[in-house]
Amino acid sequence: MKHWQLIKEENGIFVAVFDKAHESANSLSAEAMAEFGEILDQLDKQPPKGLIVRSGKEAGFIAGADIEEFSQLDSAEKGRALVTRGWNLFNRLAAVPYPTLALVRGHCLGGGLELALACRYLLAVDETGTKMGLPEVMLGIFPGWGGMLRLPKRVGPAAALDMMLTGKTIDAKRAKKMGLADDCVPPRVMEMAARQLLLLGQPRRPLPFMQRLLNGPLKSVVANGARKQVARKARPEHYPAPYAIIDLWAKHDGNALAAPEVIDRIITSPTARNLVRVYHLQERLKGFGKSSDFKATRVHVIGAGVMGGDIAAWCALRGMTVTLQDQTLERISPALKRAHALFTKRLRESLKIRDAFDRLIPDPNGDGVAHADVVIEAIFENVEAKHALFKALEPRMKPGAVLATNTSSLRLEDLRTVLQQPQRLVGIHFFNPVAMMPLVEVVAAEGADQAAVQAACAFVKQIDKLPLPVRSEPGFLVNAVLAPYMLAAMRAVDEGIAPETVDEAMLAFGMPMGPIELVDTVGLDIAMAAGKQLAGGADAPRCLIERVEKGQLGKKSGQGFYDWSSGRAAKAVAGNVPGGLAERLASPLIDRVEKLVADGVVADAELADAGVIFGTGFAPFTGGPMHFRQGMT
Ligand code: NAI
Repeated sequence: MKHWQLIKEENGIFVAVFDKAHESANSLSAEAMAEFGEILDQLDKQPPKGLIVRSGKEAGFIAGADIEEFSQLDSAEKGRALVTRGWNLFNRLAAVPYPTLALVRGHCLGGGLELALACRYLLAVDETGTKMGLPEVMLGIFPGWGGMLRLPKRVGPAAALDMMLTGKTIDAKRAKKMGLADDCVPPRVMEMAARQLLLLGQPRRPLPFMQRLLNGPLKSVVANGARKQVARKARPEHYPAPYAIIDLWAKHDGNALAAPEVIDRIITSPTARNLVRVYHLQERLKGFGKSSDFKATRVHVIGAGVMGGDIAAWCALRGMTVTLQDQTLERISPALKRAHALFTKRLRESLKIRDAFDRLIPDPNGDGVAHADVVIEAIFENVEAKHALFKALEPRMKPGAVLATNTSSLRLEDLRTVLQQPQRLVGIHFFNPVAMMPLVEVVAAEGADQAAVQAACAFVKQIDKLPLPVRSEPGFLVNAVLAPYMLAAMRAVDEGIAPETVDEAMLAFGMPMGPIELVDTVGLDIAMAAGKQLAGGADAPRCLIERVEKGQLGKKSGQGFYDWSSGRAAKAVAGNVPGGLAERLASPLIDRVEKLVADGVVADAELADAGVIFGTGFAPFTGGPMHFRQGMT
């Protein structure tokens, strides 16, 4: 066999080791699944004492189905054949008379988890990389290989739907707690534990009675609640898959083959095709982080304000040792408080929270500069202040360390004039809020040192953000495309259309937030300044000027276009959206993307789509602004 190895142990146990040929991670291609079928054939003839399924890869257990094969599906028949293949194979695995166990270490996603669920036992190895999930919904499809049948039976329908409808992953400890894993053990005892669990013959922990009711006669109650929850986040015309998952579970016990019309509709939908495209775009961005061997362990951030403070916290969360500098300790302490809240939310366990907090070191004197692999400047947006800082920094830095600025609006060409080695300055431009935004623009000025740019990309990837290389031009990519869009939205308000209606038009288009609410969130003063720089000399909209004059700066001041005194935008019910409004508002954004691609600010249309989706949330189901426009013309 090419991808699997079947090992017989003296104790009568067989171990099926999945080690996909020529790949660093395991994915379930047609060929790999056919081979697994052969293993089951062989074991049918002479049933073993037990079967352990494990991975031969360092990277993890199984990353999912083979996405390349999925990308090539071009007909409903092929879609049905794909679902049939996995559904039948895993049903067969679930029905074998001997005990089976999935030894899960590292990622176990999509089809990988569906395989593990078809085993009698699941043993999760407690390691940082271990994560289990059914992320099919993020590709616009459903877990049709038994996930929708078996996960609700294992963990109860509410927890299962939560995983299937959000695509979120869970770690080993949590998997055990919720009943997905039978046990969770450290790597050093996993071999012994796997064999013990397999042969002990213990029945699985049954689902509590109430959960069985909810997964049986009371399904419709759960389904109605889930539909309402999904409706708050995704419209069925944009994202049909989550609704299909709920229906398939509620009406067909998770068997998509019982509703072939649903398979046809979902698998051949433009949404699924576009979301697969977005997945590939994301992989392309990650690829920029792999073009250098650069590896950072220490980061020094200067400026503990809105951005610097959150950048430092994020880097510490991701395992870096971070020194955070500002003019005084008092200015650093609010950032530490926010960092603590972030660690608590993300890490949950007190030891891990403490470790992350230990890695974040207040450093008013800037002692960390000399040891840092990456130095990020995030002080006031002022050329003279940044010049003074760079002059003092450069001689103290390690050779080969990355020197980066987080500036939004200053030219790198102007900032670097004071440096001995001006070519080493790069932009590492994060977005606000740092913890939420996946994209980071890596900015190269004319003549920048390519090794420094690549190292910056590697660093960005290392902290689990998506690096997008851009050329140094005002607004780079993301802010440059948002400016004409927000301007168009505010012009619509000047024309007398209510802010709520403008926002509703773009929410219906598929944006995660309306443009007027976005202006309120960014701050009206910032929008005004960005407009001056990026709107090509256009007059500021009247509605903006009036509010800024009154000090109504948006969310941060409690009042902007909306009242924010409750912490959220208080919106009236939107009026009827005038026909063509969304297209009118989106088109300046798309025009600007086209121009930036033509000017070479971003290397090609695909990367521009990636940047705008991950930097602004531009409706992912469209496949991105350039893709969307091509589809329309
Ligand atoms: P901020 O005003 O919240 O924080 C700046 C911090 O820098 C202050 O705490 C200040 O005490 C400190 N600082 C000033 N001079 C210093 C010096 N010489 N040494 C040490 N600390 C010093 O500013 P914010 O919003 O965090 O912006 C920082 C940078 O990030 C700017 O270049 C801005 O363009 C950029 N940026 C801002 C975004 C935002 O949404 N606020 C988004 C992306 C980039």
